[in-house]
Amino acid sequence: MTEPGPAEAAIGVFDSGLGGLTVAAAIAQTLSSENLVYLGDTARVPYGTRSPATVVRYARKNVSFLRSQRVKLVVVACNTVSAQGLGGLADGSPLPIIGVIRPGARAAVDASQGGSIAVLGTPATVRSNAYVNAIHELAPRRTVHQIPCPLFVPLVEEGWVDHDVTAQVAQEYLAPLAGTEIDTVILGCTHYPLLRGVIERTLLATLGRSVAVVDSASAVAETVRGFLSTAGLERTSSRGERRFFVTDAPDRVGEVGDRFWGDALGEKLSLDHVDIVDFPS
Ligand code: DGL
Repeated sequence: MTEPGPAEAAIGVFDSGLGGLTVAAAIAQTLSSENLVYLGDTARVPYGTRSPATVVRYARKNVSFLRSQRVKLVVVACNTVSAQGLGGLADGSPLPIIGVIRPGARAAVDASQGGSIAVLGTPATVRSNAYVNAIHELAPRRTVHQIPCPLFVPLVEEGWVDHDVTAQVAQEYLAPLAGTEIDTVILGCTHYPLLRGVIERTLLATLGRSVAVVDSASAVAETVRGFLSTAGLERTSSRGERRFFVTDAPDRVGEVGDRFWGDALGEKLSLDHVDIVDFPS
């Protein structure tokens, strides 16, 4: 039997949990012929409040699981992991790894009219200054405001995307932006695209004008497309196969996962492919 060619290998995507499905959905939409393997480390979520060393240790295990699934590249959908830097995640092997920070920073600089940029993220992402550094590589003197928004992740997981409490939390978090010159806001966390509505409304009320709100998902999908095309690794045949793995509580994929995945593609997550991955501690 002939071995399938390298283009048949899947795009591996991982996140601390199910939020990275927002990125996986954008990739599936943009590159519908590609095989996709998703891993959500639901046993260890959240990463955003952990130390950099722990985040990197978990991330390496995720990469090594995806490698065992025959992937041609790995997309780190998690902002918190991407913010710690991607060097070392593949253990020195040639597996290409694409993170969300640079594509997100690029999307923000492209959307901005020269005003300052605000980054909303987990405490770990904000502490790392990864978005600030990536923006400054593209626009060296740009003012960047960073706001850690730790309560947004549990609110989204709870499904409180249109809730008064979430609106109040958003008001509190975004209040420091009043009077600033920002014209662009980065949703620097996998979960925040689900709060786009409440964040946009709060920004309008806080600033008295509308600003561009960008997230990394579609920018990452375009980065992946460009990489595969340059490397000659595009799969062009029928619709790709999609497989989903979690490290704990697969039932939650049905409950929470569809929020992140379903809307974008107008299709339900297929539970057939959900499996549990157990890492030795
Ligand atoms: N996936 C994480 C991120 O994008 C958010 C959830 C967590 O804290 O693990 O930063």
